[in-house]
Amino acid sequence: MSDINKAPTHVAIIMDGNGRWAKSKGFPRTVGHAKGAQNLEDMLYIADELGIKYLTVYAFSTENWKRSEDEVMALMNLFREYLRNGFKKAARNNVRIRVIGYRPGLPKDLQDLADELEEFSKDNTGLQFQIALNYGSRDEITRAVKKIAEDVKEGKINPEDISEEMISKHLDTADIPDPDLMIRTSGEQRLSNYLLWQLAYTEFYYTDTHWPVFGKKDLQEAIEWYNTRDRRYGNAK
Ligand code: IPE
Ligand code: IPE
Ligand code: MG
Repeated sequence: MSDINKAPTHVAIIMDGNGRWAKSKGFPRTVGHAKGAQNLEDMLYIADELGIKYLTVYAFSTENWKRSEDEVMALMNLFREYLRNGFKKAARNNVRIRVIGYRPGLPKDLQDLADELEEFSKDNTGLQFQIALNYGSRDEITRAVKKIAEDVKEGKINPEDISEEMISKHLDTADIPDPDLMIRTSGEQRLSNYLLWQLAYTEFYYTDTHWPVFGKKDLQEAIEWYNTRDRRYGNAK
């Protein structure tokens, strides 16, 4: 791609296909998750290099708890390691890291790590990176509605004051512009409860490539495709 300035401001990714990639290589699913986590490390630098300002990735959904206990445990261990390494990444590369999703539903040490990492990186001005852990859009919207209802009950606001902007500000993504481009790897074309509110005007891009091997060239192709879209709304290109 010649003009890196054309990169979308905010790219959201559904990192899918770890299991299928592993299966195709004759490995257990957990090997796919480990390779997927490694790929995410690389993708942070690639996204930054290509001029993307915000990157939001789906790592674990509220539905993913239904997977086998072994797989869930392996994933939690990977997230633990990933968040622990986050401090170095944030410091070295000026990355701001935020964890979105229902935090109290995560193991306590992961909750603490997420709190500490957000605090540690909050003033960083490089890539703004969001990782969705125990995230479900319906859960996020439900939590936002509850908070707003509390404010009405306490007399802080009137029902007439409720606006789209107010709802946006009560989501986990408050202060983050809506995604311009959403990429789902590995062929499925559903949203799986990802950013339902935030994706209202987003372009959707699907690729058969599995997440563990989705690389720079693949991201460039997605961006090139994005640049062929005729957009009336959303962030300026
Ligand atoms: C995505 O890969 C990672 C998570 C959902 C945690 P999958 O584990 O969904 O891989 P497939 O879809 O089974 O191939
Ligand atoms: C969505 O992928 C969640 C993540 C990538 C973390 P899934 O593989 O869990 O979604 P479904 O089950 O195919 O809808
Ligand atoms: Mg999947």
